[in-house]
Amino acid sequence: MDDLRDKYLGLISDAADEAALEDLRVQAVGKKGEISLKMRELGKMTPEERQVAGPALNALKDEINSALSAKKAALEDVALDERLRGEWLDVTLPGRARRQGTIHPISQVTEEVTAIFADMGFSVAEGPQIDSDWYNFDALNIPGHHPARAEMDTFYMHRADGDNRPPHVLRTHTSPVQIRSMEANGAPIRIIAPGRVYRADYDQTHTPMFHQVEGLALDKDISMANLKWVLEEFVKAYFEVDDVELRFRASHFPFTEPSAEVDIRCSWEGGTLKVGEGDDWLEILGSGMVHPKVLENAGVDPNEWQGFAFGMGIDRIAMLKYGIPDLRAFFDSDLRWLRHYGFSALDVPTLHGGLSG
Ligand code: DAH
Repeated sequence: MDDLRDKYLGLISDAADEAALEDLRVQAVGKKGEISLKMRELGKMTPEERQVAGPALNALKDEINSALSAKKAALEDVALDERLRGEWLDVTLPGRARRQGTIHPISQVTEEVTAIFADMGFSVAEGPQIDSDWYNFDALNIPGHHPARAEMDTFYMHRADGDNRPPHVLRTHTSPVQIRSMEANGAPIRIIAPGRVYRADYDQTHTPMFHQVEGLALDKDISMANLKWVLEEFVKAYFEVDDVELRFRASHFPFTEPSAEVDIRCSWEGGTLKVGEGDDWLEILGSGMVHPKVLENAGVDPNEWQGFAFGMGIDRIAMLKYGIPDLRAFFDSDLRWLRHYGFSALDVPTLHGGLSG
């Protein structure tokens, strides 16, 4: 009995975890455990032997059971200590200085633009940034030989050797989203499509990736007058001025006829830009009446539907509104710049609550 006792107390004290401890319990005092089997032998003993062996075995069983529960509690304590050490937190430390992230001006301006056009009944459409030659050019009435293709400084994707299909491109403008939206929803339609576009160009006012917002409105009787009104409303709301003068300059785009580039009256006094006054004009977008061929290419009947489209540089209007001089800084990820020009995450732009906080 002493051997049994020493053996099990030793094993229990060495048990590494609760599973090992449970194995020991089964081995010692489980139904077919060593001590339980010994207790069954009591029946074969003489009464005198039993009187000695019975209480001794019971005492042994009790001792093993309490060693098991003591060890179990100790193992649980060790596990808890380890967890507490891992999750330790000194609540008496002073608070850390606030290092909250900010909303990037491009995201902010995209939200502002979206809020303004949403108020005029435009919904937001999206398209892929890697698109086919067809969507980026041909469907927009820019055929293979057209000089606009070269002007776009297009990034072409590689095709596998032997694959002679025209390569996909990184979209050079958001205009292909016009085609995709018309294909998906037909007319009438009223959408804007903000997003990233790509051209191989890099200087103070050009980055190889930049942002545009496309607009498209088709119905039975939409005219240039509607385009003019929508853009005037937009510019007033966006620049947060009561009055603004726009200048529509005749221009040419393959996907619109007639086409116009739009400038706003502004002044540059002391290096800061003021919108709505002064003697300068600043180009902010291209626009026009959607070319019948473009409607046809997208499955919309040009004899039944007509409307306007425009494309505006988001980075450009962000620089203007928030006085950011170098476009390249937008994408440098310089934390000091981001803290300076960034916006609070809690200031969601709305027309009623204020666009820019
Ligand atoms: N896609 C043109 C560009 O990237 C901008 C543009 C001009 C878009 C006229 C239009 C438009 O929708 O009607 O320069």
